[in-house]
Amino acid sequence: TPVDPCDFTVFGGTGDLALRKLLPALYLRDRDGQLPEGFRVIGVSRAEVDDDGYRALVADALREHVAAADLDAPVVERLLARLHHVTLDIEDVAAWHQLHDRLKDGAASDDVTRVFYLAVAPGLFGTICEHLDEAGLVTERSRVVLEKPMGSDLATAQQVNAAVGRVFDESSIFRIDHYLGKESVQNLLVTRFANTFLEPLWNSRWVDHVQITVSESIGVGERGSYYDRSGALRDMVQNHLLQLLCLVAMEPPTYVDRETVRDEKLKVLQALRPMTPELVDRDTVAGQYAAGLCEGRPAASYADEVGHTSGTETFVALKTEVQNWRWAGVPFYLRTGKRMPERVSEIVVVFKEPPHAMFPHSEGPTEANRLHIRVQPDEGMRLHMTAKEPGPGGIRLRPVSLDLSYAAAFGTRSPDAYERLLMDVVRGNTTLFMRRDEVEAAWTWVAPILERWSQPSHRPRKYPAGTHGPVAAVTLLERDGRSWQETE
Ligand code: BG6
Repeated sequence: TPVDPCDFTVFGGTGDLALRKLLPALYLRDRDGQLPEGFRVIGVSRAEVDDDGYRALVADALREHVAAADLDAPVVERLLARLHHVTLDIEDVAAWHQLHDRLKDGAASDDVTRVFYLAVAPGLFGTICEHLDEAGLVTERSRVVLEKPMGSDLATAQQVNAAVGRVFDESSIFRIDHYLGKESVQNLLVTRFANTFLEPLWNSRWVDHVQITVSESIGVGERGSYYDRSGALRDMVQNHLLQLLCLVAMEPPTYVDRETVRDEKLKVLQALRPMTPELVDRDTVAGQYAAGLCEGRPAASYADEVGHTSGTETFVALKTEVQNWRWAGVPFYLRTGKRMPERVSEIVVVFKEPPHAMFPHSEGPTEANRLHIRVQPDEGMRLHMTAKEPGPGGIRLRPVSLDLSYAAAFGTRSPDAYERLLMDVVRGNTTLFMRRDEVEAAWTWVAPILERWSQPSHRPRKYPAGTHGPVAAVTLLERDGRSWQETE
């Protein structure tokens, strides 16, 4: 169903995120008939371009970032006709009337929904909200979308939240974690709570441990100046990996709505074993890629990519625990990094060995059951089991797997995370967005790691590009008698 008409204003309208993700997502929603007449997109940036210039820029971006098979010329024209551009230096208070005039002129109605998407540095979030307010642009039906990073630590996150909160009510604030928009991530809740067979096993009685891997083969490329101040812990762990952990570990809410799911996720974050300096030294590993061979091609070192030696980590592995009744004693191992062998995100739930060995004289290994949940690419699930190899002789055990591929089962394209999330913003549904207390709880948990890693003596360990990170990441599990499940 189409959404209500909306004025969708993107600060950072000529930036990478807008051109690579947001506008292609809006195009694909338009193609499916979800954008009504009167839905406008207003790009705001310092660039000296007029509406036509902006349309040309976006037309190029669509050609580059939308699959050719999905490009439909009349729909492209329709989307381009929705576009406007306002040149604005955010700090220049006197210039804001231009945005004001643009939003007033030609709006579908006086109380049209307004979305202000802040695809800019978080240092500007507070200022933009303040100016929006002063310019009289914030109405009952206005929403603000915040892109990460949501601050760089607890204190800055609190500042950002307080500044934005002075202008917008929490129910109108949409903090994006695009992992929550991924189909496979939403399916985690459905798999767990719309089926009966898993839930009785989903606890410390039957689960040995959980692994969450988000690996990428790309380096930092053009994003060096942002990334070097951030690092993998802030860029990936504080948000995406902890959100995945929450969805794996949370209790079933009574029903799904904007608060219940977020309440349950918050409880998980609050139950994470607090890191101490000793635990940081023992249970976390920071790495940084050196030159190597990635996907068959030579890859430069991180230091060469950013142009100087740096103490920023491009890889993190860590062990934690959810200290509650369900999960007590079950380790959760997380790892993420750039310049790893391939782009793959996977959650692996490793079950305990059978309590009693019934086939002592059989040939072949008994392996613990494992459920691999493939988040991307090739979304799906694979359950590893042990079966009897067919044959008239004795019993010979063989590992086999039950496979579910979403592409094969549903035969449709999985929409990009932003397609779902942008429509949720327009509809006013905050369920898949991070609430203030969640973001702050996640920062609280990573704070001792940030603190310890900021010591001058701390140095990330080098790993060659194209490998699974430093050896210490392997040791982290080996010392517990476990090993990383190679993604498959
Ligand atoms: C972003 C990070 O949030 O997520 C990037 O800033 C990372 O560094 C990206 O590459 C990964 O997203 P996806 O959807 O490609 O897994």
